[in-house]
Amino acid sequence: MTTALEGMELTQVGPGTMMGGLMRRYWIPAALSSELARDGAPLRLMLLGEKLIAFRDSAGRVGVMDHRCPHRCASLFLGRNENGGLRCIYHGWKFDVAGNCIDMASVPPQQDFKHKVKAKAYRAVERAGIVWVHMGAGAEAPPLPALEILDVPDDEINVSFIQRDCNYLQALEGEIDTSHFGFLHAGHVDPADVAEDDPVRHTVTSRAPEYHVTDTAWGTQYGAYRPAGPGRMYWRCASFLFPFWTLAPNGEFGSHVHARAWVPLDDSHTMFCFLWWKRGASAMTQPQPAFKDGRPIGGAGRGNKFLPNTTDWLGRWRLAANSGNDWGIDRAAQRDNTIYSGIEGIHLQDQAITESMGPIVDHELEHLAPSDQMITRTRRRLLMAGRALRDGGVLPPGVEDVEVFRGARSGYFVSDDQRPWPEIYAGQLAAAVRPPPTRSCAAE
Ligand code: FES
Ligand SMILES: [Fe+2]
Repeated sequence: MTTALEGMELTQVGPGTMMGGLMRRYWIPAALSSELARDGAPLRLMLLGEKLIAFRDSAGRVGVMDHRCPHRCASLFLGRNENGGLRCIYHGWKFDVAGNCIDMASVPPQQDFKHKVKAKAYRAVERAGIVWVHMGAGAEAPPLPALEILDVPDDEINVSFIQRDCNYLQALEGEIDTSHFGFLHAGHVDPADVAEDDPVRHTVTSRAPEYHVTDTAWGTQYGAYRPAGPGRMYWRCASFLFPFWTLAPNGEFGSHVHARAWVPLDDSHTMFCFLWWKRGASAMTQPQPAFKDGRPIGGAGRGNKFLPNTTDWLGRWRLAANSGNDWGIDRAAQRDNTIYSGIEGIHLQDQAITESMGPIVDHELEHLAPSDQMITRTRRRLLMAGRALRDGGVLPPGVEDVEVFRGARSGYFVSDDQRPWPEIYAGQLAAAVRPPPTRSCAAE
């Protein structure tokens, strides 16, 4: 079980907290590059419980800093983004993207001390159409993580952001919880109605899979297996990667190049950041699942409806279906079993179920089962790494040794390989399609 203290250690992300300290060692995907226009309005950005602003200067460079002006704390969100910097509209002090005060217009020239004033700015780089932020205090930032998806050229990567109104951990745990698939997403699907070679068929034929869970260099991994005919197994494998990434099993292992981040905005809001390879075979690039007679499987629709973005700290990339309208649950569809959950769309089903737990799960109320072993293992790994950093200064996995991420792949496959799971995985990985390396992983 997870104690109340462990729950706090795992879920709190603000400055000075254990997990906040761990996450500040890594690069964080924070916004779409397209959210920032050259000399455009600053963006309110909440990250790890800190209120920041982001802006793009006249030269196209991105700045990310505390929203409070270092003079007397007026919000730089209101500032004028012009001529190579952001000017506070209170007394006209101006800051460049690194936070340096470059003009102190309200102070007589002989008393000017702008070279001594610096806004609290964080490093920012752009890659894959995303602004990445490093909130650590050290002089040097590590390289970007060597995620396989970051080997793909930018124009072959799709990116989507969706806010979720709950703590990052319960959102992330929904991704590494394979035993919910046959219920939440497919409880209404009769195996006899699905084509024999359809991967959905295996997940609904056996709704209580067995699985192997292992610690890996990048975090944790499971390989879930179900019988798939004489001598054959249907495998679905997925991973947790430090500090908040998941690789989901919803694509063919051979080309499923993607990554999913669960970025804490604060303790009770998360930004889901999803990058996927346009040429990979996954739920995002293949037709919607269908019964063998051609009817679409209910509840498996694609596409999410968004509310308009606002300038609020928590106003970006929110779904129209949310707790305020019960995520659009259709009780008739639930009752007549056209959609097990009554909620349309796989992503929304996951969103609804994890938000329904409340802003932060009370872990003392849980009764974890053997089928939750991936979740317990992942919590333990996070706790151990967080404590080792906090108490002994031991760097967590993937901060400096970023190449550990490159061995992580997920997806499904059918195999007659009888070897132990790690060898089956290594064999599949060796045969998988790899995007050509097109970058160095050094953060410019
Ligand atoms: S508060 Fe920003 S210039 Fe005075
Ligand atoms: Fe799910």
